[in-house]
Amino acid sequence: MIYLDSAATSFLKPPQVAEAVCLSFEHIGNAGRGAHMPTLNASRLLYNTREKLAQLFHAEAPACIAFASNATQALNTAINGLIGPEDHVITTVCEHNSVLRPLFRKEKNGTQLSIVPADEKGNISPELLSACLRSNTRAIVMHHASNITGNVTDLAKIADIAHTAGALLIVDAAQTAGSIPIDVQRMGIDVLCFTGHKGLMGPQGTGGIYVRKDLQIPSFLVGGSGVHSFDREHPSDMPTALEAGTANGHGIAGLEAALDFILETGVEAIHQRETELMQRFIQGIRDIPALTFYGDMDAEVRAPIVTLNLGDADAAEVSDILWEEHEICVRAGAHCAPLMHRHFGTEQQGAVRFSFSYWNTEKEIDCAVQAIREIAADYEETIHA
Ligand code: ALA
Repeated sequence: MIYLDSAATSFLKPPQVAEAVCLSFEHIGNAGRGAHMPTLNASRLLYNTREKLAQLFHAEAPACIAFASNATQALNTAINGLIGPEDHVITTVCEHNSVLRPLFRKEKNGTQLSIVPADEKGNISPELLSACLRSNTRAIVMHHASNITGNVTDLAKIADIAHTAGALLIVDAAQTAGSIPIDVQRMGIDVLCFTGHKGLMGPQGTGGIYVRKDLQIPSFLVGGSGVHSFDREHPSDMPTALEAGTANGHGIAGLEAALDFILETGVEAIHQRETELMQRFIQGIRDIPALTFYGDMDAEVRAPIVTLNLGDADAAEVSDILWEEHEICVRAGAHCAPLMHRHFGTEQQGAVRFSFSYWNTEKEIDCAVQAIREIAADYEETIHA
């Protein structure tokens, strides 16, 4: 089997991730709920993982990071906590439903929403975005990399635009955390929402939110925290403010092991490796006339994602052939990004997405190239028959 669906989840992970999850069953109790060894082990695990996330994203302090079960939960926390009915928000057509749906719900309750269109390659112009600013713009909410095109946003530029107008920059880093270097302070990111199971190579059900040190997000989720139990209110200090109930300790044990691997290897090196594999794939198929590519394929920095269509062939059928006849895993369909597909005119056809991992090999890429060449040749034969 050749796994080229890492934008959906990192099926290929460092082996120590699974080992750490298994080992955690022998060591951890419930973090912050006592002073015996298992609970202290859990507290240390959470603290160490927070520290490693803070190191990875260059956060001011570990306390700026709260755990969440995925990027969607983190985005819901940010959007629901920071945006009110009187506010205006800017987003883009490139967004995943984890951004769009919370914003559409806000819009129903009075929030004004501007959705910036993309160009033919799926890029967002900072000038167009800037032109949408209003006196009540509370936030720009957008992706670091699109889960369809792999195009990467210059976040520092967007942060400048947001901050000049007194607005926040809330970032969906689902496709870049662990794959592309992120420095929240240098880039001026106010809130970073990330998942643990994609580029971070951790278990599903892990992830988190970085919140700039002097910013407070009221959470809709309140409950047990292990501290101040007699208070009627949930603690307001980060990270407890955004963490209620028992943490996913076993998942976080795996995430910590993945972070050890990433910090040791270096995100730059991971990015370089993934880029090499993606470029090998692009160069291997670029000359096939029937292929349409979605995205800025010549951009200097890209997330390791290549989305394409073969003539007017149904994307789901192409991905079925890839799986049934070549044992290649890809994702077809709408990728939970409806406005991006509408923009490209692929609502009906869908598109076939290949996404690459540090753990893929050149041989796997060459097999995928060969498979597409064969499928394209069959397609050409059928239409000219
Ligand atoms: N959001 C994930 C994807 O793009 C699941 O495939």
